[in-house]
Amino acid sequence: MSNVTLEKVSRSFGDFVAVDSVDLRVEEGEFVTLLGPSGCGKTTTLRMVAGLEQNTGGRISIGNEVVSDAASKFVVPSERRRLGMVFQSYAIWPHMTVFENVAYPLRVRRRPNAEVQDLVMRALRLVEMERFAERPAPALSGGQQQRVAIARALVFEPKVLLLDEPLSNLDAKLRLQMGDEFRSIQKRLGMTSLYVTHDQSEAMALSDRVVVMDRGRIQQIGAPEEIYRRPVNRTVAAFFGTPNLLDASVESCRRIAGGRIQLDVAGQGWRGPCDAAAELTPGQSVTVMVRPEDARIAGPDAVRGEHELQWTGRIAHTIFRGPTRSVFVDTEGGRINVDAPAFGNYAIGDNVNVLVPQSAAWAVIGHKEAA
Ligand SMILES: Nc1ncnc2c1ncn2[C@@H]1O[C@H](COP(=O)(O)OP(=O)(O)O)[C@@H](O)[C@H]1O
Ligand SMILES: [Mg+2]
Repeated sequence: MSNVTLEKVSRSFGDFVAVDSVDLRVEEGEFVTLLGPSGCGKTTTLRMVAGLEQNTGGRISIGNEVVSDAASKFVVPSERRRLGMVFQSYAIWPHMTVFENVAYPLRVRRRPNAEVQDLVMRALRLVEMERFAERPAPALSGGQQQRVAIARALVFEPKVLLLDEPLSNLDAKLRLQMGDEFRSIQKRLGMTSLYVTHDQSEAMALSDRVVVMDRGRIQQIGAPEEIYRRPVNRTVAAFFGTPNLLDASVESCRRIAGGRIQLDVAGQGWRGPCDAAAELTPGQSVTVMVRPEDARIAGPDAVRGEHELQWTGRIAHTIFRGPTRSVFVDTEGGRINVDAPAFGNYAIGDNVNVLVPQSAAWAVIGHKEAA
C-alpha cells in the first residue's frame, strides 16, 4: 500500500471550478474520507486520483511516483496506477459465481489460469470469503456481496483503494453494519483508503481523518472527534448533527493552560466563557456552538455552576426520539434544542433553564449569513 499526495489540485469545467486547490496527504494504511454536500467536488477529486478525470491544476502522487502534473502535462493512465475501486453499485454479476466475479478483471486481461486461481483465492481469503468461492453471487447477503466487491478491488494488489459512496444504495441498518465490517477489514489489511460520502455519521464511524469539503474547497481536515467538537467555521459546525448556533460578541479573550484560547462572550440575555480556535478581539461577532447532547434542562430557579453557561426560557415543543427527547426551549438568545432524557417531565410552556458546561461551548468567527 502507498500514500497519496494531492498538491494544489484543481479541476475546472469551463469557467466553473469544481475542485479548487486541494492539498491533502493520505498516509500509508490510513482511511481518509472526503465529506461534503452533493456537488462539492468529492467524486471529481476521487476521479482525478483514479486518473479517470484530468486535473487542470496541481499535482497528484501515489507512493513516490507523480501520476499527474498539470503544469508539465504529465499523466500516468488510470490502468497503470494500480488502484482498487469500489463504487456505488457493486456491480456483482448475478450470473457468475463469487470466484468468477472476483476473477473478472484478470480474465479480461487474459491472465493465465493458474495465476487467476492464485490471485482470486488470495483476495477471497483476505475478506474471509474463500468458503463461498463456488456460490452463485445472488445467494449472498448484502454484507457478503460487499466483501466480494472489495475482493475484486483487491485482486490486483492495489496500492490504494478508492471508494465512492459504496454504501449509499443500502437501507440504513445494512449501511451501518457494512460500514463497520468494511472498517474492520480495512484496519486488518492496513489498506490506504480514500473514501467519499455525503453521510456525516458514516464518515465519523469509518475514518481516521475526515476532509470536509464545500464548493470545491477543503474547509477542515481532522480526526472525526476534532471536527465534531472543534469545527473551524460555521459551515463545518452546521454540517454535523443539529447543533445550536447562537450569535454572540466577544467581550475578552485570553490564553489559558495548554495553549487553549478562552473567550468571554455575551449574547442576547446570556453571557459566559467558551473556547475558540483563534484569538479574537473584543467586539468581534462569533457564533457559539452548543450540541444538544451537551445541554440539560433544569428548573426555573436553577443557578448555573461556576463552569456553566445558562439560558432562561420556556419549553416551546418536544419530540420523542426513542433514546432521548428533543426539547426546544425559547430563550431571549434564540431557540435551543436539548437532548433530554426520553421520559422526563416536560410540558409545553414550562419555565426552565438550559445549562451547558462551558467546555462544551465552542466559538467560531462570524454570525449566520444573511439569507
Ligand atoms: N464533466 C463535467 N462537466 C461539467 N461539470 C461537472 C462535470 N463533472 C462534475 N461537474 C460539476 O462539478 C461539481 C462537483 O461534482 P462532483 O465532484 O460530482 O460532486 P460530489 O461528488 O461532491 O457530489 C458539480 O457542480 C458538478 O455538476
Ligand atoms: Mg459524488
